[in-house]
Amino acid sequence: MTDSVQAYLDTGLRDLWYPVLASWEVHSAPVGITRLSQQIVLWRDDKGHVHALEDRCPHRGARLSMGWNLGERIACWYHGVAVNGAGQVEEVPAVDNCPLVGQKCVRHYPVKETQGAIFLWFGVQPDDPPGELRFPQELEDETQYSQFLCTAAWQCNYQYALENVMDPMHGTYLHSSSHSMAEGDRQADMSLHPTDDGFIFQKDGQQGVNFDWVEFGDTGAQWMRLSIPYKRRFGPGGHFWIVGMVVPEDENHCRVFFWRIRRVSGWQRDMWRFMYRHRLEKLHWDVLEQDRIVLESLAPNARQHEFLYQHDVGLSRLRRVMQKMARAQIDRLTACNTAQSLTP
Ligand code: FES
Ligand SMILES: [Fe+2]
Repeated sequence: MTDSVQAYLDTGLRDLWYPVLASWEVHSAPVGITRLSQQIVLWRDDKGHVHALEDRCPHRGARLSMGWNLGERIACWYHGVAVNGAGQVEEVPAVDNCPLVGQKCVRHYPVKETQGAIFLWFGVQPDDPPGELRFPQELEDETQYSQFLCTAAWQCNYQYALENVMDPMHGTYLHSSSHSMAEGDRQADMSLHPTDDGFIFQKDGQQGVNFDWVEFGDTGAQWMRLSIPYKRRFGPGGHFWIVGMVVPEDENHCRVFFWRIRRVSGWQRDMWRFMYRHRLEKLHWDVLEQDRIVLESLAPNARQHEFLYQHDVGLSRLRRVMQKMARAQIDRLTACNTAQSLTP
């Protein structure tokens, strides 16, 4: 693999939807964030719709996230220039007939708010139209399933967070003291199986005991899905499902999103939600903390000094999938740049 492919991957693949914040984090006050090494401002208008723009005032570059929410527009704190949700300047209050009015000079990001999170589309080129976004059934089907979203900022490159989930064997060791992952073999043979949207990586001969399999899928956003068997005393609903997504912030930071899901409806849904909030949420945070601590303290450039073995086939496959996507995106960018430079 060339350095340029790895450098591209370190910032984040595009042509994808990513969750960037939980819904509860965006109110009317503008919020400034960094995702895929891009500075972005989000705000919610008076109808509740979320808008997302490059966090840069077209006048002299002040952060729009320090400005004012004017509903469907945002006004810069510095000299009051107002930009709409499409990235077009609507008003320059300090000057009559300013030629800046009407210009579209700030990147805008297509937004979807769903599953308790705000998703933004990151095209390869800023104006690429957004692709379709589907979710795994456990997230999509809100009548049969009930979920809690948990999100956290981690100080590591996003690829380590993805690869951590593609490595089911760590559950038996790192999380051996956890209530849900104490059981099962501490040795296993593992195998890969393709699916319509990606692949499954699983322990052979052990299912329904621990974190025994994981699936990677790409349905407009990249996700990982797994299930962990639950003892009856932890409430109704059979297996405990987790759907995870990771968004890069910059090369050394990412944001993880984990939806914790059970198949429950009716009164059982209320009971499980109560139980989750009061008994289980803390336990799950403890497990996530174990992951965070290991990943944030990996040796410098850990990836360059690895010695992988059979249990790492899942993450190796994921790396190949992502490298292929990165190469295709770099080729598209190069082709566009070449075409632009040839345009008279
Ligand atoms: S820098 Fe934003 S209005 Fe001047
Ligand atoms: Fe883990």
